[in-house]
Amino acid sequence: MSAPAFANPLLESVDRPPPRRVAVIGAGTIGPDIGYYLKSALPEIELVLLDLRQEAIDAALARLRGYADKAVAKGKMKAPDAQAVLAGLAGSTDYAALAGADWVIEAATEDLALKRRIFADVEARVAADAVITSNTSSLPAARLFAQLKHPGRATVTHFFAPAWRNPVVEVIDWPRADRALLAWLRRLFAATGKLPLTTGDAPCFMLDRVFDNWCNEAAHLLAHASAAQVDTVAQAHVHAGPFFVLNLAHGNPIIVETNTLQAAEEGAHYTPATIFGSVERWLTVAPGKRVEVGAAQAAAIDDRLRGVLWSQAVDILDRGIGHSADLDIGCRLALGFKQGPLQSMREAGDAEVTRVLQRFAAERPGMPLPRRALAAYQPSERHVVVDRVDDVVVITLRRPEALNALHDEMTDEILAVIRRHEADAQVAGFVLTGWGSKAFCAGADIGRFPSLLGDAGAAAQYARDCARLLVHLDRCAKPVVAALNGMALGGGFELAMRCHALVAQRHATMQLPEITLGIVPGLGAMVVPYRRWPAAAAVFHGMLARADRLSAAQAHELGIVDDLADTFEALIAKAVARVHALAGRPRPVADAAVALPAWPDGAAAVSGGKRLSAQLVALTGRAVRDAAAARTLADALEVGYRAFGESACTAAAREGIAAFLERRAADFGATG
Ligand code: CAA
Repeated sequence: MSAPAFANPLLESVDRPPPRRVAVIGAGTIGPDIGYYLKSALPEIELVLLDLRQEAIDAALARLRGYADKAVAKGKMKAPDAQAVLAGLAGSTDYAALAGADWVIEAATEDLALKRRIFADVEARVAADAVITSNTSSLPAARLFAQLKHPGRATVTHFFAPAWRNPVVEVIDWPRADRALLAWLRRLFAATGKLPLTTGDAPCFMLDRVFDNWCNEAAHLLAHASAAQVDTVAQAHVHAGPFFVLNLAHGNPIIVETNTLQAAEEGAHYTPATIFGSVERWLTVAPGKRVEVGAAQAAAIDDRLRGVLWSQAVDILDRGIGHSADLDIGCRLALGFKQGPLQSMREAGDAEVTRVLQRFAAERPGMPLPRRALAAYQPSERHVVVDRVDDVVVITLRRPEALNALHDEMTDEILAVIRRHEADAQVAGFVLTGWGSKAFCAGADIGRFPSLLGDAGAAAQYARDCARLLVHLDRCAKPVVAALNGMALGGGFELAMRCHALVAQRHATMQLPEITLGIVPGLGAMVVPYRRWPAAAAVFHGMLARADRLSAAQAHELGIVDDLADTFEALIAKAVARVHALAGRPRPVADAAVALPAWPDGAAAVSGGKRLSAQLVALTGRAVRDAAAARTLADALEVGYRAFGESACTAAAREGIAAFLERRAADFGATG
């Protein structure tokens, strides 16, 4: 498997247009779910579901209508949008409906002969350049597509349940696939909210090797423990234990099939546990529930489960089946692991990993073991991906599960990438952008905040630590340009405003929602905008005191955003051009006090019709005033860090942060 040209697939340039007519073969569970994802993301396409049984098609279409109704009822989708999703959606039992399809997705039963017959039928009915993909979870592309006349247009695109919501799709890089096909698929998936992971063509690819062997190992452990005990111990690593998931997915036959395939190709140690043949439903515990497990027994189960996980992880990397950062994010987002296996190895430490793997090798001879030093398996970046566009380093924030929200590790990684390239004469500068098309960055990770509540010192120090990257940008010798591909909120906007120029796609927005959380934006938003764009001071007052949203066009008019772009390609091209234009012409933030217009009246403060905390509005106003009066930038920033610490000790912060995490509207009526 070769590395894709770009780690951020949206940087790939592709000639092929998006699909217009897609056919999904197989109206079971995953086929229609894939169809629903595609229709939601690209409502203008025609989508036809094919199956041998009309009842399956009727049930699938009813299910998709149900998804759309639910989305409207929950306010996730507007009624006209739901109508557009359901329009152009049809079902058929006749392969003649394939006519005109420019993409056929096969999601039929896991049977090589059957799938090959389907592909022969498909190829006879669609144009020679129509894309053909299979959703197989185990059968290598080289076998599936061996008999195709035009194999270059075919590959495996492996989705995970529920496919309309689970972001992960493995895109299999097999030798005969056209590079342009892989680039088109990766780009299309990334542009439509998915996380495509490029994976080698081994049986079960990357993530199902982990999942199948995790489940198979759990079943082998039944010689020593009950399913409920194994699931209890496994919950240290996954949100739902393996037996609970097998019940959900009626998954025993799948594991038997996939592990039989791995055993046939790679050795008897992969043979499926015989108990799969005699049990249909496991007696186990729901996620979050536990049964009694003795300490020694729990340790033995845990060693075996970590053993299989780490053994698979090193094997996948040693054989080039997947990339290290993709393995970790894929295990978390597709399979529900709390941490990726490489992260858990790093946290366990080399001595513990070696102990666990030695024990595993003794109990499960034949299973793969590390072939290199353990450190060699760790990715250099986990939360960002790094590309080169000409002489510019493009850093993409990649935490799609949290709209690219910043946490300590992510800011450290951005800083490390910048430091690594800063002295390189071949690098002109940097562009920062966000994964996907929804968010540049949704701010600081709110999940971290509860631990800071009530401790002004710790909260202020947290803000200071987070700001290390931003302070570095202030002094960076090479230009750093923020390319806003979507929302820049809170700390995300604070990051962007410290870059030396901002460019934005037209749909991008900027907002400081902290006041709605009962806190202040402590990383510079109460300081930097007033010193960089003093003429827009009244606008920043509104953003801070009422969480007013600023559109890219408004920000452009105010001179905050230097350039606007219609597409992501244009955004990056303009950002790269800005880097070149700024070379040798740094834009430092002013180091002197600034004058301010009057601060809005806190008692009357509302945002989106909701009452805000008057105490927080007043606290923000005071910090803005004090920071504006500070003689140096460093002093002004310190005002912001302290004000963040102070805000973390208010009742409003407790309420605002709890409300966000509990997914409800904050009620500042009683907090002051
Ligand atoms: N921190 C952690 N997780 C975040 C996040 C953040 N800042 N922003 C979004 N997410 C998570 C959501 O919790 C959600 O996770 P789950 O799927 O596990 O529930 C996921 O990202 C997707 O978000 P939503 O489902 O909420 O997406 P949406 O389209 O319905 O709403 C949104 C989008 C309006 C941006 C909403 O996510 C939101 O309000 N996010 C918080 C934005 C914010 O307040 N940012 C400021 C943070 S504070 C800060 O930055 C302070 C500082 O200076 C120190």
